[in-house]
Amino acid sequence: MTPDKTSAPSPAAGAAKTVFIKSYGCQMNVYDSQRMADALAPEGYVETAAVEEADLVILNTCHIREKAAEKIYSELGRVRLARDARRAEGRGMTIAVAGCVAQAEGEEILKRAPAVDLVVGPQTYHRLPQLVAAAQASRKVVDTEFPLEDKFGRLPAAPREKTRARGPAAFLTVQEGCDKFCTFCVVPYTRGAETSRPVEAILAEARRLAEAGVREITLLGQNVNAYHGEGPDGRSWPLGRLLARLAEVEGVERLRYTTSHPRDMDEALIAAHRDLPQLMPYLHLPVQSGSDRILEAMNRRHDAAQYHRLVERVRAARPDIAFSSDFIVGFPGETEADFAATLRLIEDVGYAGAYSFKYSPRPGTPGATLEGQVPEPVMAERLARLQAVTEGQQKAFNRESVGRTMDVLLERRGKKPGQVTGRSPWLQAVQVEADEALIGTVVPVTIVATGTWSLYGEMPGAGEKEAVA
Ligand code: 5AD
Ligand code: SF4
Repeated sequence: MTPDKTSAPSPAAGAAKTVFIKSYGCQMNVYDSQRMADALAPEGYVETAAVEEADLVILNTCHIREKAAEKIYSELGRVRLARDARRAEGRGMTIAVAGCVAQAEGEEILKRAPAVDLVVGPQTYHRLPQLVAAAQASRKVVDTEFPLEDKFGRLPAAPREKTRARGPAAFLTVQEGCDKFCTFCVVPYTRGAETSRPVEAILAEARRLAEAGVREITLLGQNVNAYHGEGPDGRSWPLGRLLARLAEVEGVERLRYTTSHPRDMDEALIAAHRDLPQLMPYLHLPVQSGSDRILEAMNRRHDAAQYHRLVERVRAARPDIAFSSDFIVGFPGETEADFAATLRLIEDVGYAGAYSFKYSPRPGTPGATLEGQVPEPVMAERLARLQAVTEGQQKAFNRESVGRTMDVLLERRGKKPGQVTGRSPWLQAVQVEADEALIGTVVPVTIVATGTWSLYGEMPGAGEKEAVA
């Protein structure tokens, strides 16, 4: 027993218990957080949005860049204060760190943040109820195994009402891990080798989602287009084939997938963009850099010309497709000429969206020990220049939407009364004056204006109806 635990009463078994879960980083963590909530629900845990009300706090963490990882320790400081306040009232709080920082740092977290009771890596969430119980029985628990059993097969599904409450657009993880070993990236170490869920399990989950009102499913994977799950025929299915099968599920009106590696865009997947109207015309296809020298040093295993050709092939299959990408500035050895090549690639491709980052050396990755680390002020300056270009492209893309009528999936109430928030096929947020009863349906919307982050639209005929009434 640690001194830290002596005054922490755990909630009585059977009593209503609350769990606060905060997700950092990528969409796979968002999905995992939901599955953790689902795993704890049979134990009587109800989710709360207020950390001070929580019997159990789970921080689902991201390790991709140093900033993301460091954020967790400051958050843990705040959580500890909340825990101390609860203890002063004779109530307890169990603190868990999950996700990629948990996987990467394991025991270290307990040393740096002694308030933490449980450290659990992304591969063992199905064991969460037992792990939490063990941690509450006054033990510190660390589980960062990569077990052989199928995590997803053992995680309980959300009840229908819960899925409904989460809205009509859902994530579904189909693939985890990465075998690519880009030299900047921790993912192959934190999430392990590539694994794919079987087709039948994914179909069953998609059917459950659709029956609960989900209309749009985004398939997730660190390297989603490397998907090669076992099909009902016992053979390995590529992502294109999985998508075609999912498009047949009743109620699924929209499909997306993220994140892809350019090397894994095979013919079947490109054909899916041509053949499946359900597959939305928006593709996140990270290139990271436009310099062949840097792409090579990053071990991306393609050059800028190959990326261009790929973009053209996908555009030929689906002419209205728009692309987004991730970019890293200041990878070790990046010169002004290399950076200029990245800007050129951005101008040539023309993106509808982009995420860009300063290179962050991650412990244990080959990039961290390379010569020619780029000084911070140089990275900051390059990032600002790059973002000026990508933000300009995004704004131009949004402006081109004005005057067009497009299908929008209405997802939830907007900020203002009478307003509903939805998504365009190109993942743009759209604010529409619409009847709330239409939430969960795809409706045609005419875009009338653009703001900084959103488009504003009207439903054709909405005005006339009012005039008649
Ligand atoms: N430094 C900066 N950015 C990184 N990314 C991954 N690793 C690093 C790193 N060490 C970015 C890449 C990736 C995205 C998810 O995060 O652009 O595509
Ligand atoms: Fe990281 Fe993506 Fe490369 Fe995998 S494919 S190592 S996740 S950047």
